[in-house]
Amino acid sequence: MIRKILVTSGLPYANGHIHIGHLVEYIQTDIWVRFQKLIGNDVTFICGDDTHGTTMMLRARSEKRTEVEIITEMHDAHLKDFNGFGIEFDFYGTTHSEENYQICTEIWNALKHNGLIEEHEIEQLYDTSAETFLADRFVKGTCPVCGKKEQFGDNCECGAHYEPTDLIDAVSTITGTKPILKKSKHLFVKIENEHKFLDQWVNSGALQPEIANYLKGQFLNSELRSWDVSRPAPYFGFEIPDSPNNYWYVWFDAPAGYIGSTLQWCKATGHDFNKLWHNNATEIHHFIGKDITYFHTLFWPTMLKVSGFTLPKKVHVHGFLTVNGEKMAKRRGTFILATTYLKYLHPDYLRYFYASKISGRVDDLDLNFDDLEGRVNADLVGNLVNLASRTAKFMQGISLSPSYPDDGGLFKRAADVSNEIAEAYEIGDYSKVIRIVMECGNRANKFIEDKTPWAISTDKNKTSELQDICTIGLNLFRQMAIYLLPILPNLKNSVEELFNSKITNWNDATKPVTGIMISPYKHLIKRVDRKAIERIIEESKQTEFVEKPAETNAESNNAVDTVDSDEILKAEPLLSEKISIDDFTKIDLRVARVVEAENVEGAKKLLRLKLSFGGSESRQVFAGIKSAYKPDELIGRLVICVANLQPRQMKFGLSEGMVVAAGLGGEEIFLIKPDNGAKPGMRLH
Ligand code: MSP
Ligand code: ZN
Repeated sequence: MIRKILVTSGLPYANGHIHIGHLVEYIQTDIWVRFQKLIGNDVTFICGDDTHGTTMMLRARSEKRTEVEIITEMHDAHLKDFNGFGIEFDFYGTTHSEENYQICTEIWNALKHNGLIEEHEIEQLYDTSAETFLADRFVKGTCPVCGKKEQFGDNCECGAHYEPTDLIDAVSTITGTKPILKKSKHLFVKIENEHKFLDQWVNSGALQPEIANYLKGQFLNSELRSWDVSRPAPYFGFEIPDSPNNYWYVWFDAPAGYIGSTLQWCKATGHDFNKLWHNNATEIHHFIGKDITYFHTLFWPTMLKVSGFTLPKKVHVHGFLTVNGEKMAKRRGTFILATTYLKYLHPDYLRYFYASKISGRVDDLDLNFDDLEGRVNADLVGNLVNLASRTAKFMQGISLSPSYPDDGGLFKRAADVSNEIAEAYEIGDYSKVIRIVMECGNRANKFIEDKTPWAISTDKNKTSELQDICTIGLNLFRQMAIYLLPILPNLKNSVEELFNSKITNWNDATKPVTGIMISPYKHLIKRVDRKAIERIIEESKQTEFVEKPAETNAESNNAVDTVDSDEILKAEPLLSEKISIDDFTKIDLRVARVVEAENVEGAKKLLRLKLSFGGSESRQVFAGIKSAYKPDELIGRLVICVANLQPRQMKFGLSEGMVVAAGLGGEEIFLIKPDNGAKPGMRLH
């Protein structure tokens, strides 16, 4: 049975170029799509640019161009990068299209019709002269921790994190004026109304177990908070039809862009849109990074369900890329753009390396260039290509043996694992694909080594034996190559050319070719050039780009934080024993700023903090919060501290207080932060 499948990758933001982090996703999706096509399924691969949002609007203002000019240019740049890596979409659209507006409107009307839209007032920093609300990164001022000027509203180069209102002499980066606090009306989606549906959907098999558990543990075990989906003008996006001056938040129209782009494609090519998004006629598969999980697994299914579109059959969530074990960073030369990589190295090296690391689970994966070099040289050059290069050269002007010779069962053994390899591709476990195929290669190479074709090639009496050995070696090579085609698409042409025969589908790997002439052998894959890697790193240190994506996904997290519920009371009921106000005032609770934070050697749960109460007053505190916070992200932030707790001598040093946090006693810990404006040293009354 031929499956009808629609596949998407996350839509990249139109305000930044494609980098090697993104490629983890696009390469992995492309491999899956190519595999499905190779086994004969009817697959449509849809993607496009995510264009809307405040950042795009501001960029257009500052470059004195229109948003449309910028997104058109970026659309081309993205497509060029994707092409360079062999990522082949059936259609690459944009969220800024009439079709997407149409789809958004349809979903919106359905949400309203079903009573899922409500209105609330919220308060944010506002630039009165640009007449726009300011996200953290659009506020600058002097760092409250180190005093450095010209720092952003959420963090400083010194590593400190704070609220925009903590900045000294804060100004709007747009106009240089001092922002005010302002209220505005926002529209929210009451996803709690679809709680029952989501409970079922997370168990439908659409999610990896770790993702389903995360949703159940983090969200579905209590009332779902409503989702803020509107932004007041000015905003670059779609104005909400029945709410003048309000725009859909970019995260509303971005996933709709999967459908909008499909509609663009259908209009252009005459494909049947209804078959793709209605009546469950098509399997929908989304590939996304873990950072955007909840948009795709809570809001998106709710939007789809309420408006009658087909729900995803599977959301394939992957982890994040680290380079040499650390986050990509320009100063280390590891924030590598697709274009920079392509200048110096072959795309299939990265495709192969990523595939060897991708397992279908949510774990992060690490790119280490020594590993990449070792992998490619050992597997592709030393194993795969070696098989062809050592045998093809004796077959110039000679045909393959007329029937497939006895190889001791090697070809059959590798043909028999065809289903196992296919199954590994299906579940996204490409590292397993590679393991199995390389085992086949090892056996094949051992066979060639034992038969020593190079030793008998000069012996006139052994030409037929030589022909048989090489027929075997070349067929085992071709078989491996077919298995790896989804990962190494560039191999297809070379293999077809070498064997003078087309590869049409997956089953070609189970049928040996015989009797045909072999073309002159051309070098297939070269060893990795170390110097090229050094150049990539060097050049990446120089490249200019926006390191932080504009509509950061962290920002959108906060947008949900509006309507509160009583979730925790169930787990920890209120205490019945009463205390007097005197009991309470005995506790000296203070606002404090974390000025130092570090891991404690030998302590599993503790971080050592130095807390400042303003002036010269400070305390050392050992806090059991290591499971939830990294030292770096604490420095600069405000916490609440019990300042008059009896000091305690611990193995690691003196603890002179306690930081208060919410939690259920497990690994999940939430530090408490005062509202904007509170200063270190202030007492809690
Ligand atoms: N525009 C949103 C997605 C909207 S989908 C309706 C977005 N864009 S993005 O450009 O930041 O990322 C696009 C995809 O690439 C996301 O799935 C994201 O998780 C993935 N990755 C971006 N950086 C990545 C790494 N460093 N590592 C792995 N995947 C990464 O999010
Ligand atoms: Zn600072």
